[in-house]
Amino acid sequence: MAGPGKGLEGVVAAETAISDIDGKEGVLFYVGYDIHDLAEHATFEETIYLLHHLELPNEQQLGELKDQLGREREPNQFVMDLLPGLSANERPMSMLRTAVSASSAKDPDGDEMSEAANYRKAIRLCAVMPTLVAYYDRLRNDEKLVTPDPNLTQAANFLYMLTGDKPDDDHARIFDLCLTLHADHTMNASTFAARVCAATLSDIHSATTAAIAALKGPLHGGANEQVMKMITEIKEPPKARAYIQKRLANKEKVMGFGHRVYKGVDPRATWLRRMSSELAEKAGDGTFFEISQEIEKTVHDEKGLYPNVDFYAASVYGYLGITTDIFTPVFACSRVAGWTAHVREQYADNRLIRPDHAYVGPDPRKWTPINER
Ligand SMILES: CC(C)(COP(=O)(O)OP(=O)(O)OC[C@H]1O[C@@H](n2cnc3c(N)ncnc32)[C@H](O)[C@@H]1OP(=O)(O)O)[C@@H](O)C(=O)NCCC(=O)NCCS
Repeated sequence: MAGPGKGLEGVVAAETAISDIDGKEGVLFYVGYDIHDLAEHATFEETIYLLHHLELPNEQQLGELKDQLGREREPNQFVMDLLPGLSANERPMSMLRTAVSASSAKDPDGDEMSEAANYRKAIRLCAVMPTLVAYYDRLRNDEKLVTPDPNLTQAANFLYMLTGDKPDDDHARIFDLCLTLHADHTMNASTFAARVCAATLSDIHSATTAAIAALKGPLHGGANEQVMKMITEIKEPPKARAYIQKRLANKEKVMGFGHRVYKGVDPRATWLRRMSSELAEKAGDGTFFEISQEIEKTVHDEKGLYPNVDFYAASVYGYLGITTDIFTPVFACSRVAGWTAHVREQYADNRLIRPDHAYVGPDPRKWTPINER
């Protein structure tokens, strides 16, 4: 039973103009735009611009952002020198946490904390993170690195760097939509971690590193990887129901279900389910999608819970040929847009974030010398 304040449920931790959720109605807005509208019309680049500028870009503004992202995709030499060691020794999210932290070393804006410098750093982080993930994956597989193509979108370029092949239009469009859907989500744990760090007036690389550390956990971004492990273990759709029932009987959580804010449908899951179905058809192999559907039905029948963003993202990424253990870094490559926007919003109207507590320890007592303990 959650005690008062446990998990900060219902506590307003910050004012934000970046995104908003109504968990009862199952709606999500980025800066006033319904996620369904954005899913239909926006590109990820437009989404990055919207989260940072609180308005949609015109053509010139969008062009400038795309140019900047295209120019900033190569990691600096300091990070490049670290990557082989990280690829050989670290798990993907630990690599990303370390490489993003190390990216501050040669940032052209150094320790500069002006509004303009922090925006440039934010865009650099958005640009470089997909490259870190793709390079990591190729290094550990002894594959030649595929240098970023500045003429491709964030989505198409990532799939290109990862696989070595330019994605077809359907895959590029679907992955672009995945990035848009994951880009921001109010005071989720990683964004809150980023804002707590930024509120001490620490730098944007530190705040992003804190966010990655928080996203890593299986109760947050790490859930998508666990979902794919579950799908792989189940193997065949008819085995899904018994597998889930056994899991629930053992009081184990089913990853990819439940949410602190949404008590019904997560609007992002609606789009991800659709994409999973489309990709299953395109691949001529419905296994991931059908197992996912069976899991969804069973969890709903048994617990009344709905899938969250991580559930169908797993099968979508699986169909796109992304290796399971980099699902969470892929999530980070999108959410960095929101994290950095929140960090800049925090700097713009800052107050140290320092919550109160409810003490539950012993009453005041006298020091006991060591020989009397
Ligand atoms: C997201 C999550 C952390 C929210 O946590 P929360 O708001 O603290 O909710 P709780 O963990 O207290 O769950 C409330 C109740 O629902 C149950 N529940 C919540 N999510 C569940 C899940 N995925 N599977 C099974 N039961 C679940 C809990 O067991 C609890 O039941 P109880 O009251 O009988 O003990 C939680 O739903 C979860 O762990 N989900 C799985 C991980 C996941 O998918 N994370 C990605 C989130 S986008």
